[in-house]
Amino acid sequence: MSDTKTNINIFKSHLTIKSDYVGGKAKPHSANGQKIHKLSSNENLLGSSPKALQAIQDCLHKLNEYPDQTDIRLREALADFYGTPMTADHFFTGNSGSEILELIARAFLDPGLEAIIASPTFMPYRLFSEKMGAKVIDIPLLAPNFDLNVAEVLAAVNERTRLLFLTSPNNPTGSYIPTETLEYILEALPSHVVLVLDEVYFQFTDQGDYTTALPYAIKNKNIIGVNSFSKAYGLAGLRVGYAYTHPDFARYIRQLHRPFLVNALSLNAAIGALADSAFLQETVNLVQSEREFLYEELDQRPIQYWKSQGNFVLVKPPIPPKDFEARMLEQGVMVRPVENFGAKGCVRITIGTREANKAMLSALDRVLN
Ligand SMILES: Cc1ncc(COP(=O)(O)O)c(C=O)c1O
Repeated sequence: MSDTKTNINIFKSHLTIKSDYVGGKAKPHSANGQKIHKLSSNENLLGSSPKALQAIQDCLHKLNEYPDQTDIRLREALADFYGTPMTADHFFTGNSGSEILELIARAFLDPGLEAIIASPTFMPYRLFSEKMGAKVIDIPLLAPNFDLNVAEVLAAVNERTRLLFLTSPNNPTGSYIPTETLEYILEALPSHVVLVLDEVYFQFTDQGDYTTALPYAIKNKNIIGVNSFSKAYGLAGLRVGYAYTHPDFARYIRQLHRPFLVNALSLNAAIGALADSAFLQETVNLVQSEREFLYEELDQRPIQYWKSQGNFVLVKPPIPPKDFEARMLEQGVMVRPVENFGAKGCVRITIGTREANKAMLSALDRVLN
């Protein structure tokens, strides 16, 4: 360190902001041999795509070598998966959906600029925007069903706005944005605002008026569709995600990539996963049928819940969320309090296998009584 002392503060003020967001907890070791069902992080309870696991096996013998210099093989696989007119140029990848969101914030935000979010929602939108020094404007979703407050969202847009983060299906509410609403917003947004549509749970939707960003990205609208391999493909531990958008935006954001951005295991596993339609279908079938099973069961219990388009349901237990979390864990079931997402009094529960769901319901019965 230099001996010449000055009073100059070298820390950026926006990097010293404290955030109360931490990711979900890991599974604890069970003290008494009791099985623990982790229903707190929206993971895939069927495990990982077997084709992804095979692809990992196939590259284990060459981990001494650097991976591909760029993500082009994964982008080409994504272009094949999505089909014409999507090309590798429409995509960019990253080490998780979270990193994709962070790249977008880094690419478009700065001190003096603004991002709009609609809570309760995934907290990293706020975190990543604030770490860029941007101001976050929160336009809360409307009670009782967490609909987007479209008029207020549009009224919040000004010359400083660069990003509008919308999530469909939304975490933790499970609500979605109908096609008509999304199109209305897209038409109304000025050209200096990019709509970031986080669709990491899109595979689990079953509503006819649901839409991803795809039809609008194809038409070169100011929209980015954010995706992840963590959920439907069961690769949360690997950290790999992607987004698609206007080729000019994709090229602009890829400038933030360092060489060898995606590691060899993730790159090959993601390409393997895209070819695994059987695993994807099995996962989607499980989530959709167990979701219906849970609705029927929850209807018979004294607990408020919201219907969901994701692989999770939001519930409002009659006791404080943290107490509920602790008491469910005593019964061997991990759930996620989501007050810090903006959902007051609420807890999010991942939809699991029938065995896990039944364990959750029994735990719920013991906690409620
Ligand atoms: C809405 C939403 N977006 C993005 C992510 C990020 O997923 P990952 O970083 O695991 O790819 C999550 C994870 O829970 C999420 O719920």
